Amino acid sequence: MSNICVLGTGYVGLVTGTCFADMGNNVTCVDIIEEKIAKLKQGILPIYEPGLEEMVERNVHAGRLHFTTSYEEGLDNAEFIFIAVPTPTGANQGAADMRYVETAARMIAQELDHYAIVINKSTVPVGSGDVVSRVIRNNLKRPEVNFAVVSNPEFLREGEALSDFQHPDRVVLGSSDPEAAQSVARLYLPLRAPILVTDIYTAEMIKYASNAFLATKISFINEIAQICERLGADVKEVAEGMGHDKRIGRAFLDAGLGYGGSCFPKDVRALAHMADEAGLHPQMLHAVMDINHDQRRLVINKLTNILGTLRGCVIGVLGLAFKANTDDMRESASIDIIRWVTAQGATVRVYDPVATETGRVALEREGINLDMVEFCQTSYDVATGADALVISTAWNEFKSLNMLQVRAAMRRPVLIDGRNIYEATEMNRYGFIYRGIGRGTGPAPTILPPGDTTSILGEAQLLSLEESK
Ligand code: UDX
Repeated sequence: MSNICVLGTGYVGLVTGTCFADMGNNVTCVDIIEEKIAKLKQGILPIYEPGLEEMVERNVHAGRLHFTTSYEEGLDNAEFIFIAVPTPTGANQGAADMRYVETAARMIAQELDHYAIVINKSTVPVGSGDVVSRVIRNNLKRPEVNFAVVSNPEFLREGEALSDFQHPDRVVLGSSDPEAAQSVARLYLPLRAPILVTDIYTAEMIKYASNAFLATKISFINEIAQICERLGADVKEVAEGMGHDKRIGRAFLDAGLGYGGSCFPKDVRALAHMADEAGLHPQMLHAVMDINHDQRRLVINKLTNILGTLRGCVIGVLGLAFKANTDDMRESASIDIIRWVTAQGATVRVYDPVATETGRVALEREGINLDMVEFCQTSYDVATGADALVISTAWNEFKSLNMLQVRAAMRRPVLIDGRNIYEATEMNRYGFIYRGIGRGTGPAPTILPPGDTTSILGEAQLLSLEESK
């Protein structure tokens, strides 16, 4: 059993602390936000993560998991101090904002009165391990105290964070102090995962390169989706066919509205920024970001191609969170979609199984006029009177809707499936005008002159739309 302190109770900190406690360690989680700690002490979690609440409760009850706002209390006897504070995109062209990491390092320096290993879990620019060492060293209240710094990037997916922690594909540890790295490795031994020990710069880079590669896979398949759509191929089957090749793999080849969330957007931006700063031209990373941005606009193009002007239309949006099984709204595609359709004069009806509150806050923060947005209780409420439905998050409950009921509730039967959860043939049978992402239906059309909408929408469908107005 080890004494562990975790600084920051966001997704990463809370999951890391709770999982280490569940492995039998004595863990204290520290956060400077008093309200957050007060709620955690009552068993109220600041985030939605399946299984986490029960695990927190179990470990608090067993006396292994503690919450405090006091660094002094958190660091007392701690052998391992994990820094898991946010590193959002800063004001400087995509660079990660290191403010919180540096503050955490300064606080450690003030309180540390015994040898401890400081482990950086926050995603930090390559070279930040040195910054953390320097900040602690320069601010140590008791200069005789020794410490080591280890980089230990996290690879947790929201919604799957507990199982990702408990069954990692690998654990990466970077340090210039091999003994410290070995001590941290021992913490992870019960997980029986491959443990890779590198220098600190390499460990930090592994995190960025991994996320950038996964983001690249997504943008790649989204580009293929656009080509599929034009040429009449079906990107879902293309991904399936590619994925069987072990060198490629099926994961992260789901075409859709692109990536969002707390990591991919900021990490790709930060890596591109680091490369730019180093005098390089990270062309691929810039293309990945451009494709991701354009992908969201596709929804608007598809809507206007079918509905014409959006002014006065009611657009139903199914899903607010950036992906299923989370209430996280960070960089969610739904924000851009709602911003753009309301800017064009449409009103929005929206429903998300868990992200209504976080969604409301995020939309307001983004300056979206909430008078144009109605938050509904069910998907069927969203469909009521809508001119089009947009599926923006692949929640399971959206996959098994009674589509006859949905269709009957709508003013016009337009379904834009931003996550490719339905099949065109089936939706057409229900009477929907269905558009997925990259789901060409049949052989390549002959190229028609620009402006000829029949290339996008069959004439019969256009007519039935006109009639239903
Ligand atoms: C990611 C990484 O997976 C994790 O290792 C890292 O440490 C944190 O960032 P997360 O942000 O929770 O995790 O979500 P993830 O499941 O990776 O999805 C990221 C985004 O990509 C989501 O918006 C998702 O909808 C999108 N995505 C994912 C696709 O568009 N297509 C895919 O095939 C996969």
